[in-house]
Amino acid sequence: MIDTTRTGIDGLDEILNGGIVGNSTTLVSGNPGAGKSILCLQFIYNGVEDHDEKGIYLSFEEDTEDLQEAAESLGFERWGDYVENGDIKVYDKQELLRENDFSSSLDLLLDDIEDAEYDRLVLDSLTMFELFFEDETEKRTYLLKFTDILKKNGLTTLMTNEQGAVFPETEIGLENYLTDGNIYLIQTPTESGVNRYVWVAKMRKKNIETDIFPMEISQGGIRVHQNASAFSMMSEDESPL
Ligand SMILES: Nc1ncnc2c1ncn2[C@@H]1O[C@H](COP(=O)(O)OP(=O)(O)O)[C@@H](O)[C@H]1O
Ligand SMILES: [Mg+2]
Repeated sequence: MIDTTRTGIDGLDEILNGGIVGNSTTLVSGNPGAGKSILCLQFIYNGVEDHDEKGIYLSFEEDTEDLQEAAESLGFERWGDYVENGDIKVYDKQELLRENDFSSSLDLLLDDIEDAEYDRLVLDSLTMFELFFEDETEKRTYLLKFTDILKKNGLTTLMTNEQGAVFPETEIGLENYLTDGNIYLIQTPTESGVNRYVWVAKMRKKNIETDIFPMEISQGGIRVHQNASAFSMMSEDESPL
C-alpha cells in the first residue's frame, strides 16, 4: 500500500488517485502567475488543518508577511496562528540569506529539518534556489544531498519551477530526474481574463489521470474541475503561457 499525502485541494487529489506519493518530491511547474505558490500554500495549510502535519515553507520570492497576506486573501485565516505556534515554519529570503555564505544558511535549515517533526515541505522556488550556486557540480551535489535528507526525514515535498509546459520538446533538466512527480499549471489568456489548467504529467508509483483539467483560483484557493478539458497545446490562437 503506497503512502499517500492528500493535498486537500478540491479535485486535485481525485486526479492524483488519492494524493501525491508520501515521502516524495514533486515539481510544480508553470509561468509566473500560474498559481504555483497558491498550490503550495494550500498544501502546507491543509496539512496542518486537516491532518495534523507540520510544514516548512522556504520562500525565496515572497517574505513572511507577503505569504501571510496571500494566505489570508484566499481565506486561510489561521495561517498566522500556525506560524506563531510553530505548526508552520516559514523561512523567507532574509532568513535564508542571513549567513554570510548561502551554504551556512542551508546547513542551519538542514539541522532544522533533521531535528523537528515536520511532514511537508515547500521550496518556492527551485529556480531561485539554483541561482545561488556558482557552478553546476556544486548545484547538483547539493540538490542530491538535499533531496536525500528530505527523504530520510520523511518529508513530502513540493518544489516550484518557473517553467511553462512546452511541447513536444520539454527540456529535461536536473530537476526532472530528482523528482518523483511533475505537475504543470498552465494559463492561457482570454478576452475576459485567463483560463487555467492543471496537468499531472508524472507521479511515480501511481495510476494518475493524465488529461489536462480546468481549474480556477478564487476564495478558498485552487479548485480543479473534473471534466477533462478539450485543451490543445498546439492551438495557434491560444498558445500556452
Ligand atoms: N485571493 C485571490 N482570489 C483570486 N485569485 C487570486 C487570489 N490571489 C491570487 N490570485 C490569482 O493567482 C495568481 C498568482 O498565483 P501565484 O500562486 O502567486 O502564482 P505563481 O506562484 O505561479 O507565480 C494571481 O495572478 C491572481 O490571478
Ligand atoms: Mg510564486
